[in-house]
Amino acid sequence: MFFCIRAFESTDWPALWLILQTTFAAGDTYTFSPQSSEAEIHKAWVELPAATFVATSEAGDIVGTYFIKPNQPGLGAHVCNCGYVVSKSAQGQGIAAQMCEHSQKLAVEMGFRAMQFNFVVSTNTGAVRLWQKLGFEIVGTLPGVFQHQKLGFVDAYVMFKSLID
Ligand SMILES: CC(C)(COP(=O)(O)OP(=O)(O)OC[C@H]1O[C@@H](n2cnc3c(N)ncnc32)[C@H](O)[C@@H]1OP(=O)(O)O)[C@@H](O)C(=O)NCCC(=O)NCCS
Repeated sequence: MFFCIRAFESTDWPALWLILQTTFAAGDTYTFSPQSSEAEIHKAWVELPAATFVATSEAGDIVGTYFIKPNQPGLGAHVCNCGYVVSKSAQGQGIAAQMCEHSQKLAVEMGFRAMQFNFVVSTNTGAVRLWQKLGFEIVGTLPGVFQHQKLGFVDAYVMFKSLID
């Protein structure tokens, strides 16, 4: 499938919100409440990050998205954090892999020295495998920190990748 990755534009929001809302409503991958409001998610995905990107299909439809931001303020701001979502119907075609590569390149350009995922749900095995394949290591396990909407309390991983030699 052909797709391109470009900066988010405000007119993308209605389509992006649909994808994010559906993803978070499942309550199996992100800590956002399944009942999160549109304003809350807009703030978290578009307003607070340093940048937000979308992946679009050949027809121009939004099929994926990611954000990038400093993981911590001040003395921790040289490490970035990203979040990725691909619409259900477009999964398994390498879009997240491409977005993650794109974000790592951008992170280096922005001066970040490392990328950290703070909360990769342990039962999200597709994501864990994908991040490992792209060079991220599990550096910690947080026991029972995620209230999975089907499985109950499950672990989450902290995953980390240095971006400097
Ligand atoms: C996780 C997610 C971003 C992956 O997106 P994607 O575009 O489907 O991933 P890709 O197509 O780039 O996958 C690349 C590899 O990971 C594997 N993979 C991805 N998701 C998988 C899944 N759910 N189950 C099994 N394998 C999976 C693919 O098989 C592929 O491996 P391969 O190259 O060896 O065939 C997507 O499933 C998603 O948006 N999920 C909901 C939100 C989420 O979990 N975000 C990540 C939070 S840490």
